[in-house]
Amino acid sequence: MKTPPLRVALLGFGTVGGSVARILVERPELGDRIQLTHIFNRGVARKRTDWVPASVTWTDSIDDLFASRPDAVVEVVGGLEPAGQWVRRALTQGAAVVTANKMLLAAHAPELLHLAATHGTQLRFEAAVAGGVPLIHGVREGLAGDRLLRVAGILNGTSNFVLSTMAGGDQQMGAVLDEARRLGYAEADPSADIDGDDAGAKLVVLAGIAFRRHLRLADIPRQSIRPIAAADFRYARRLGCTIRQIAMVETSGDRFHAWVGPALVPRSSPFGLNAGANNVVTISGHYGGENSFSGPGAGGPATAVAVVSDLMSLTQRTQDRGEEWPAGSVTAPPARPYYLRFVVHDHPGILAGIAAALARQGINLDAVLQEPGYPKDALPFVITVEPCEAAQLKAALDEIARFEFHAEPPLSLPMLFHPVA
Ligand SMILES: NC(=O)c1ccc[n+]([C@@H]2O[C@H](COP(=O)([O-])OP(=O)(O)OC[C@H]3O[C@@H](n4cnc5c(N)ncnc54)[C@H](OP(=O)(O)O)[C@@H]3O)[C@@H](O)[C@H]2O)c1
Repeated sequence: MKTPPLRVALLGFGTVGGSVARILVERPELGDRIQLTHIFNRGVARKRTDWVPASVTWTDSIDDLFASRPDAVVEVVGGLEPAGQWVRRALTQGAAVVTANKMLLAAHAPELLHLAATHGTQLRFEAAVAGGVPLIHGVREGLAGDRLLRVAGILNGTSNFVLSTMAGGDQQMGAVLDEARRLGYAEADPSADIDGDDAGAKLVVLAGIAFRRHLRLADIPRQSIRPIAAADFRYARRLGCTIRQIAMVETSGDRFHAWVGPALVPRSSPFGLNAGANNVVTISGHYGGENSFSGPGAGGPATAVAVVSDLMSLTQRTQDRGEEWPAGSVTAPPARPYYLRFVVHDHPGILAGIAAALARQGINLDAVLQEPGYPKDALPFVITVEPCEAAQLKAALDEIARFEFHAEPPLSLPMLFHPVA
């Protein structure tokens, strides 16, 4: 006997929701498996379009939507509430949920996964990380046979656009951010992107998929890309590197090193080569080595593909095993080499003072770089140091930051080599 199509209610008719409806309407061959029954949005009258078939009910009543008993609810409203309350309600009444909402998952994934399992249904979220890149399917199904060790990636298109554009020219961040806003790559307030919260939330979801552990976003150290200046790219180039916002999590026994922030990466690595707003993620496994996934990390149509793919997999396997993410604990990263950039009012003895403070923490210098042509009252120079613990470095930098010669606060970036070490 033929299985009836999955009856789908769409919550939110914005950038992603509109594109989901478009795909379902423009691909009638999917109609045997997926039937869009409802579109819900506040003030829905202004959202109506003529290309959605008359069979679809437009509503701004969430109660009417749930009364129709959909088989699956697509949540593309965003934000913690009321989206969270609607996702819980859908799962509780046995509907599967497909969501693109990384913030909701980062905050509540264990509870929502448990709720889905308790009610014999599923929560799917391919669109929540790296937009249209089939990363979650790839890790969950394609790499299920490996013991994964590390996930590292460029998960925020806005930051990558800003840093890769700065690397290509000689512009400062403010000018590039203005350009990103003009092109629609950055919001009026880009803080969540450039300060690492967006990538951090995606990292929580990825850690859940890769390691079946829930890391608290609040426990993941996040460093902003704001202090990165044009001079840093010049120095990075001399080291064969460039700078990208990296999100990474790696296992260490039952603990996890997780971190988001700007890092030096080799120019020839998948991270260094990744330009514009694209995402790239490298997964390292004990048996399979490294696999990279890359593609558009955002945008309505690309993200909608991930949502529709989740709906299709719901129609293929209605009985998935429930999944749980017990809490995982985040610890400090392993010893790494670092890039330290100072901008100083130049006078004799500065280098000796910095070297002595580093030596007091047992940190060895690797190289000192100073480019000509900068003014003496704001002179940037770089010291790279051999691998050291983050706590050692922090103690040394706390001491160095108290010296009176700084024109800007010192900047430290980890140097991540490929394969990321
Ligand atoms: N855009 C992307 O490229 C992308 C990529 C990956 C993941 N995501 C995720 O996808 C989700 C949706 O993003 P989006 O870009 O599509 O956002 P969006 O364009 O702002 O769309 C959200 C829609 O939900 C509606 N909505 C918001 N709050 C509501 C409420 N309380 N009651 C009823 N309707 C409400 C909005 O209505 P109004 O028009 O009235 O505001 C809008 O139509 C977010 O979780 C986002 O993080 C987006």
